[in-house]
Amino acid sequence: MWLGIDIGTGGSRALLVNRAGEVVAAHTAAHEDMLMLQPLWAEQRPENWWDAAVAAIRGVLASSGIAPSEIRGVGLSGQMHGLVVLDADNRVLRPSLIWCDQRSQAQVDWVNATVGRERVLECIANPVLTGFTLPKLLWVRDHEPELYEKVRKVLLPKDYVRFMLTGEFATEVSDASGTALFDVVNRRWSTELASLVGVDPAVLPACYESSDVSGTISRAASELTGIPAGTPVVGGGGDQAASAVGNGIVSPGIVSCTLGTSGVVFAHMEEVAYDPAGRVHTFCHAVRGKWHVMGVTQGAGLSLQWFRNQLAPGTDYDSLMAEAATAPAGSQGLQWLPYLMGERTPHLDAMARGGWIGLTAKHRRADLIRSLIEGVSYSQKDCLDIVESLGVAVGSVRASGGGAKSPFWRQVLADVFDKPVVTLASQEGSALGAALLAMVGTGEYASVPEVCGAVVAEQARVLPDQATVPVYAKGHSVFQALYPALKATFREM
Ligand code: XUL
Repeated sequence: MWLGIDIGTGGSRALLVNRAGEVVAAHTAAHEDMLMLQPLWAEQRPENWWDAAVAAIRGVLASSGIAPSEIRGVGLSGQMHGLVVLDADNRVLRPSLIWCDQRSQAQVDWVNATVGRERVLECIANPVLTGFTLPKLLWVRDHEPELYEKVRKVLLPKDYVRFMLTGEFATEVSDASGTALFDVVNRRWSTELASLVGVDPAVLPACYESSDVSGTISRAASELTGIPAGTPVVGGGGDQAASAVGNGIVSPGIVSCTLGTSGVVFAHMEEVAYDPAGRVHTFCHAVRGKWHVMGVTQGAGLSLQWFRNQLAPGTDYDSLMAEAATAPAGSQGLQWLPYLMGERTPHLDAMARGGWIGLTAKHRRADLIRSLIEGVSYSQKDCLDIVESLGVAVGSVRASGGGAKSPFWRQVLADVFDKPVVTLASQEGSALGAALLAMVGTGEYASVPEVCGAVVAEQARVLPDQATVPVYAKGHSVFQALYPALKATFREM
């Protein structure tokens, strides 16, 4: 039995998987809400992730009824890019600035001015973005200098949980790629960029390939969680790379679309290639020696979550989807811009703002909800178009994440993409991927493609409805015209 643990944004999930890749039991413990002290700021407490991870592990062990000694290995996955800073006594110095926090534009501008965009691209194969870890660290240096002086270790969210489980300061190549301090081409820290921006490389953890063993469960963690001391913990992956493993995106030609809080279009790459404009990220894959490219919509599931919390409290997502399905395709001309936390692909603009455009007195609530689904899908289509422009052949798209559980949203995706949308037998994504990486790390399978070939199976396929495809082609072109028209105004806001 292998244990996969995913430190998400909304909660931490632990699941147990057998040799056939079947999920034997799973348990999720919710996180505290994001702390949003200002618009576009987002923080969470690492201590809360750890408490939730412990609760999830204990929960899954209790519900499965298995003997903990049956656990052969542990894999971790987690929300990417978040900044965790520890002092000399390994205490958390402040809440984490998480992936969707957009406060660090001034620090991004400073890196570009000091180092130069070209040099940055040579060092890390990506531009520095507000979402990434380095500018968050520089924000702390600029705004909380006394606290910054105390920083001895910088960790990513799942790697803080790894530290609590094993006592090791470690990460792995896929998550390290999203720090903006990692030499993605050569799969090692960019000590060059670190020294150009004045960050001491000693604060960075050891970096492993994703399926390598990074440490073992400590005695203290064993007492808290019930996992036997000495159980190996593999590197694991950033949530997107781990989810790609769970979805079998480990060879060329298959692309995934994961609709969580964010929405991500993800493709495997045998050779490293990057978009010269940096609109999609080129990162190390959790497959040894391989890379991936991904485009990110910041506010995917978040759009729906925001709508529900603010405008339809108490309504469940299934009811919202059923209501949306009563509106016509194209939402009677209503458009939703999902830029609730700025946008990454394709605009790379922390200042972008969300909103509806095109409201008339005729619109009903159903149109509003349907437009959310359509706007997020148009944004994912922007990601897919750029991935295809890099030479990735896209036959079909594997959909996963909370949003993909809705057959209605899957049909909208198929119609917007004009591609078959496939779902898999297991919808577990990141936590499953983490467990599969642990299977490879403990020698049960020889490689990540081998385990995926053995356990990942397609279940259902939605074909594009050719009557609706042109409606969405028109809607997508209107959607694409809105951001450039509003860009300058967003800055005034
Ligand atoms: C990926 C990204 C998000 C977070 C949260 O670049 O920022 O997917 O990992 O899920």
